Amino acid sequence: MGKKLVVGNWKMNLLREDAKQLSGAMVNMLGACYNECNVVIAPPYTAFEVVRTCIEDSNIELAAQNVFSSTSGAFTGEVSPPMLLDAGCRWVILGHSERRYILGENDEQIRQKLLLSVSSGLKVILCVGETGKQREDAVSDSEDAASRKELLFSPIKAQIESALGSIGEQLIADIVIAYEPVWAIGTGENATSFEIAEIHRCIRELLTRMFPACGNEVKILYGGSVKTVNIAGIMSADEVNGVLVGGESLSAGSFVKIIKSVGG
Ligand code: PGA
Repeated sequence: MGKKLVVGNWKMNLLREDAKQLSGAMVNMLGACYNECNVVIAPPYTAFEVVRTCIEDSNIELAAQNVFSSTSGAFTGEVSPPMLLDAGCRWVILGHSERRYILGENDEQIRQKLLLSVSSGLKVILCVGETGKQREDAVSDSEDAASRKELLFSPIKAQIESALGSIGEQLIADIVIAYEPVWAIGTGENATSFEIAEIHRCIRELLTRMFPACGNEVKILYGGSVKTVNIAGIMSADEVNGVLVGGESLSAGSFVKIIKSVGG
């Protein structure tokens, strides 16, 4: 399985000067040699260069928050996998719920983006998760615990099967799954350790069924209102191999506390 992974998603925040200060403060507080766990940060494209310069002597790696599914061409406003690699970026976050539900991205687009990303040499953090309504419906429409679990997992299963259905076993090593219940993102309402473990175990079972040789090795992160105050509980849940942090990654002090708590 290797080391645990902490990813900071800055979303559409920070001008270059603020991005420089935040990444500089993170490196200082963490120490340039820190490697108890792997750390990735995803600034907006406009801050890539300043952030890349600040983190170049540390073990922190750069991620993009999105990418397009073609290498080059007439796609106004888009950025391709080779462009991300050229900018010093090694990772990309795909399928984030804000892209699915605010920007209208569908499973097929995510599948294409993922396939081109991994075959171009990027590592992918694939976000999946149920909405609040899907969770409520799973409770109200089921008669027993087993059918509740099956109903609850079905939208997540569909997202994973669609995104990874055409990925060969040899590329799965470059993919990380982030379970992010949509109702927990940016709301301050995180899933409980029980809720997290239940879904993470289902994801692990699905991955080992889809990829018998190495499904066990794929990291599964939790995301959704991860904070310094709840990180210990989240990490204690079964099959949690790290976290994807939004709001709290915009504070160097809080983000470094989360990293150190995950790294042990
Ligand atoms: P949050 O965001 O930590 O602010 O809830 C998580 C995410 O969107 O990945």
